[in-house]
Amino acid sequence: MRILAIETSCDETAVSVLECEGTQADTRFTVLGNALLSQIDIHREFGGVFPMVAKREHAKNLVPMLAAALSDAHLLESASEEPSSELRTELTELLAREAGLADALFAFLLQYRVPDIDAIAVTHGPGLEPALWVGVNFAKALARAWKKPLAGVNHMEGHLLSALASDASADGRNFTLTDIKLPVLGLLISGGHTELVSMDEWLSYRLIGQTRDDAVGEAYDKVARMLGLPYPGGPEVSKLAEAARAKGRTLPTLPRPMLKDANCDFSFSGLKTAVLYLVKDRTLTQEEKEDIALAFEDAVADVLFAKTSRALLETDAKTVGLGGGVWANTNIRRVFSERLKLEHPEVALFLPEPRFTTDNAIMIGIAGFYRALRGDFMDPDMMRADGNLALARM
Ligand code: KG4
Ligand code: ZN
Repeated sequence: MRILAIETSCDETAVSVLECEGTQADTRFTVLGNALLSQIDIHREFGGVFPMVAKREHAKNLVPMLAAALSDAHLLESASEEPSSELRTELTELLAREAGLADALFAFLLQYRVPDIDAIAVTHGPGLEPALWVGVNFAKALARAWKKPLAGVNHMEGHLLSALASDASADGRNFTLTDIKLPVLGLLISGGHTELVSMDEWLSYRLIGQTRDDAVGEAYDKVARMLGLPYPGGPEVSKLAEAARAKGRTLPTLPRPMLKDANCDFSFSGLKTAVLYLVKDRTLTQEEKEDIALAFEDAVADVLFAKTSRALLETDAKTVGLGGGVWANTNIRRVFSERLKLEHPEVALFLPEPRFTTDNAIMIGIAGFYRALRGDFMDPDMMRADGNLALARM
């Protein structure tokens, strides 16, 4: 089955084409085409992602990314037929709110024929709603124009399932999802999420724990701001901490909120406030900044691991899958690799490849394939972008 996938939940505009073969238990994926444009340089100036700016950029970049992904997949062929005026009217209505997108899409449809794909998958949440809507409306328009079925994908499911990939070829084009033992405990950490979910059956999720206040990525971004570091803060704090780690100085003590509580929930606002007290009304030296960054990172990793460890005992999970943007963090990856091997040697650990920690459309194609395999398509008229779309419930 060939899936065209679209991702616009935050500040990456991404389109991919995946060839997916095999069964749910044993799947081989080939990335036929992949295109991704990060808006980070635009958002950096504002110190954060502005939803309306992200929306504008997605509308501008979706058709070029579509063309790039299809071209990469050798699926762009010149058209011989013009879109009907009826189709034009429908698409104009569908894309009325996305400046310039309808015109760019018409030009594309006029130039190229229907590509040889079986289904379209699109992120319909969670994320920034105005940004999500552009992708959703664009996917609806393509589904209509090409007469293809449409699957809605939860962004966090994409992060989790892509983490379970293995055997990637050197060029990353080929990988498999195979021999995954259930239940899978997923720890999803990003700018908006910190949750532990149990996938008891394939694609069926139960919420085991979540943050009661800030998400981990959000805490990283706020601490970065306190230390005067640019957006996005996560990688910057991490760089400072790595510098300090090598030096072995005595660190300030920071709390590990809820570490000992008998549940799998998290809280990061107390930790953030503790950092605020350390930096308040002071001019910090570079060394002091590094030490605070390191103390913060150690506290975060300790809490994340302790709660995951507790959740493993509660769920009897056989596999741990780690998904979301914060898994780009070197220290959290290291702590989980080392401590899981020592403390839960029977559990299989899946860390996401670096390319799956940043937002991308390959992971949306993976999740889209499993949805499509079950015929889990949505009526395009019913599909809505949902900024708070939940993966799992209690
Ligand atoms: O999954 P993602 O790209 O977007 C959301 O869906 O939220 O995650 C972005 C988050 C940001 O908060 C960013 O600061 C954080 O992931 N992040 C990191 C690192 N790289 C990205 N946090 C800590 N260390 C990193 N190396
Ligand atoms: Zn993400």
